[in-house]
Amino acid sequence: MPETDSLDPDKIRANLRTKRIGAEVLVYSRTSSTNDLAAEYAKSKQADGLVVFAEEQTAGRGRGGTKWRSGRAESLLCSVVLIDSALAADLLSLTCAVAVAETIGKPARCDARIKWPNDIILNGGKVAGILLESRTYTHGRAYIIGIGINCHQSRDCFAPDLRRTATSIDIEAGTFCDRLSLARRLLTSLEHWIEIAAANSAFVIERWRKLSIQLGQRVTLIYDGREFTGNCIGVDPEKGLILQLDRGGVRMFDAAHTTIAKRN
Ligand code: BTN
Repeated sequence: MPETDSLDPDKIRANLRTKRIGAEVLVYSRTSSTNDLAAEYAKSKQADGLVVFAEEQTAGRGRGGTKWRSGRAESLLCSVVLIDSALAADLLSLTCAVAVAETIGKPARCDARIKWPNDIILNGGKVAGILLESRTYTHGRAYIIGIGINCHQSRDCFAPDLRRTATSIDIEAGTFCDRLSLARRLLTSLEHWIEIAAANSAFVIERWRKLSIQLGQRVTLIYDGREFTGNCIGVDPEKGLILQLDRGGVRMFDAAHTTIAKRN
């Protein structure tokens, strides 16, 4: 692995033109979870825009209480702190998905798409995930946006149960992706889309729809333990995925209670 790919705060901040996201950049060699670390920093109001990266996590977390595993220096693992954001969590979640998908498309040399609510998919495989958490402190509310992007994994780096469904940028691009420039692109894209979401949420939702792999497709999902199948006819930032159900009727499924069935 080239020396230049090691995460370094000065190298990430060099040529970074953002005003808010990446105002401070920290890189840890090893931590439990960057989300937990960022949540500690978020106790201070000054932490707005702080980004914590790690080369390795010992207890990385995914959505729905899952574990997020990645070998050392194989991924871009980070958490962004947003203090006092006026954005609703569900809109921020869609916004981050758009920002991450647009970040990944270029180095991967193919379009990254979004699987609701915010899995990022390259050529059918999951390449990135987002864990958005909200915490309340004495100074008010903070969002912690945790992002994991698979970069240098080969197929056998993934656990056997994930090999069929996971991928990395290197696998899809057939070249070595530089995590430093990916980090800069990510922070730039996040700032860009978070600003747009605050000014014009409809624009973000429209972009999300264009990037969605499910819109117009048949989807099977599990909601509170029950299975539903139908055609995906829309997404609402608050109410969730909108399905025209096979059994009749239109229904919305919110992200908190819904998982997409594996076969989709
Ligand atoms: C998902 O389940 O798809 C979300 C995965 C989010 C993983 C990232 S890695 C960096 C940050 N720290 C964590 O513990 N989780 C997120």
